[in-house]
Amino acid sequence: MTSKSRHQVEKEVLNLRREIDKHNYQYHVLDDPLISDAEYDQLFRRLLELEKEHPDLATADSPTQRVGAPPLDKFKTAPHTLPMLSLSNANDQEEMREFEERIQRFLKTTEAIEYAVEPKIDGVAVELVYDEGHFVVGSTRGDGINGEDITLNLKTIRSIPLTLRRDKRDPTTRLEVRGEVFLSRQAFQQMNQEREEEGQPAFANPRNAAAGSLKQLDSTITAKRPLDIFCHGMGEIAGADFASHLDFLQALRDWGLKPVPGARSCHGLERVLRYRDEMEAQRDDLPYEIDGLVIKVNSLELQRRLGEIARSPRWAIAYKFKPRQATTRILDIQANVGRTGTLTPVASLEPVPIGGVTVRSASLHNMDEIERKDIRIGDTVVVERAGDVIPYVVQVLAEKRTGGEKHFTMPERCPVCGAAVFREDGEAAYRCAGIACPAKLKESLKFFGSRGALDIEGLGEKLIDQLVERGIVKDIADLYSLSKEELANLDRMAEKSAQNLLDALARSKEATLHRCLTALGIRHVGEATAKLLAEQFGDLHSIMAATEEQLTEVREIGSEVAKSIAQFFAQPQNRQVIEKLIQAGVKFKREPKKEGKLTGATFVLTGGLGGMSRVEAQKRIEALGGRIASSVSRNTTYVVAGAEPGSKLKKARELGVQILSEEEFLALLER
Ligand code: IVH
Repeated sequence: MTSKSRHQVEKEVLNLRREIDKHNYQYHVLDDPLISDAEYDQLFRRLLELEKEHPDLATADSPTQRVGAPPLDKFKTAPHTLPMLSLSNANDQEEMREFEERIQRFLKTTEAIEYAVEPKIDGVAVELVYDEGHFVVGSTRGDGINGEDITLNLKTIRSIPLTLRRDKRDPTTRLEVRGEVFLSRQAFQQMNQEREEEGQPAFANPRNAAAGSLKQLDSTITAKRPLDIFCHGMGEIAGADFASHLDFLQALRDWGLKPVPGARSCHGLERVLRYRDEMEAQRDDLPYEIDGLVIKVNSLELQRRLGEIARSPRWAIAYKFKPRQATTRILDIQANVGRTGTLTPVASLEPVPIGGVTVRSASLHNMDEIERKDIRIGDTVVVERAGDVIPYVVQVLAEKRTGGEKHFTMPERCPVCGAAVFREDGEAAYRCAGIACPAKLKESLKFFGSRGALDIEGLGEKLIDQLVERGIVKDIADLYSLSKEELANLDRMAEKSAQNLLDALARSKEATLHRCLTALGIRHVGEATAKLLAEQFGDLHSIMAATEEQLTEVREIGSEVAKSIAQFFAQPQNRQVIEKLIQAGVKFKREPKKEGKLTGATFVLTGGLGGMSRVEAQKRIEALGGRIASSVSRNTTYVVAGAEPGSKLKKARELGVQILSEEEFLALLER
């Protein structure tokens, strides 16, 4: 290679990294993406490609490092330069007042103190160390003096910048930031659902899930968990100085880090209390879990004067919201059968109010969890309700046992259909083997009519129970042959509600392809994946005909998901049900699509384009109705070969795909 082209490669790599870092920041920190996922993907793949071709250009802070690294044997110890302290707690208003009085006494003032008040994030505490703007070490809190070095795992979190955004004059040489790694509620629920489907034990709550994810010695596993971070504190900082905590949070934002949202300046305790009421009321609406507030003296000068006492700063206190916990008794444990046939043990509880809701049951997740916590029928237990997460058993109060408690065992036969229950090797979950298990059918029907799927109003649980139990509905397609008389004869149904349901069913036939796909309940295909499939393939038949290999060509569809989709459509029963749906008038309507002269054409780009960036090329192709794929297959219409094309060109030749030079490509766009 000549030194000039080498120079060009280096330049392209640097530019790509800068671009990708910028878009990461826009997406994960500002929540304001500037480009589509596909465009981002394109940049990312190009960088991967270049780093693979020129391994000497790979660096530790390249965004490609976020996909994980080879597994470790164990974590190294990472000492904290400054100890990571813990907070003392105020349990009520009185203790908050005492906190304020202590501060005023210590500072010999009666003036109102300015506090920075923040939500207390229910996550896992970590420290990030930046050296000259580069992320070098990340660690857990450990005992506060020494933590575990989890750098590789933290690098997979997209909202942690690998390089800080700083201008040339930024004098900060070292920055130690503390924060909380967490999983959003939605990410948690999705992750548990996937784990359940894969037969892995579910996590009890988002915090456990985040902690478990950070403890992985194999960072490629961590990379698959949608972890996030909020930063809220500082360790040692060299080269920068701030007047207040809120100024520090602003600096974090400028550096591209993600400060804890909802930090507010409150003068005096009364304002703090008002903010507390506000936050407590909002608590369940936040997309992540908070378990209280942290109240900090805002001025860093005052913080220094106040210092610390007994491993906690005197200038801050945690106010924990009332835990939404209660003590109650387990009356019974039953196995519930889910859509995929997984048996989940559920405890029926003596009803107990928790935070304004009467709780009657709690998920016990799986047998491992029952064994680990030694949960027995008849036990007195502490139950917690966290946000909209299903209540769960925190612990057993073993001292309340009378001796009459009974161990729970998974039934050998499905409690619903009587088919055998099996546990596959290496799976934690028990499953019902029955093909026609009504419990699976009920769950499928519920899912079919749910919001993200076909949104069939009136298709509630009670109705589904009757339809299945009376043998009226044997598969999802049977819904479309229900008659008004049949429906009106069911409990709690009248002519009007029957008609409403029929109207809703009629409307659902017009739903767009991605909703219909979601509604089929294919394992691993949620709304997002269904959208991707619909966008990329356009119609149902193309998706049904796609091979596993073609499916993996779609961005973000991995081999496991592709396999599940191909398997689903390979089942004759599934094909029959789909045929029946189509006969009934379900249209699997094509999504309204950008139409243009390139509609139907698939492009693969290889090598550098001199005249335009790849992102621009992609934009122009998509604007004309075409689409971009990442690898060459028989479905590729054109391969655009720029300067120094890679192996894709060879593949294109092998498959006889039409190859366009950059000039030909431009002519095609402009024609
Ligand atoms: S400041 C001296 N701010 O709660 C400790 N902590 O014991 C300063 N936490 O270990 C911590 N949200 O991991 C602070 N907004 C927030 C927080 C927060 C959650 C965690 C932190 C700490 C624990 C309190």
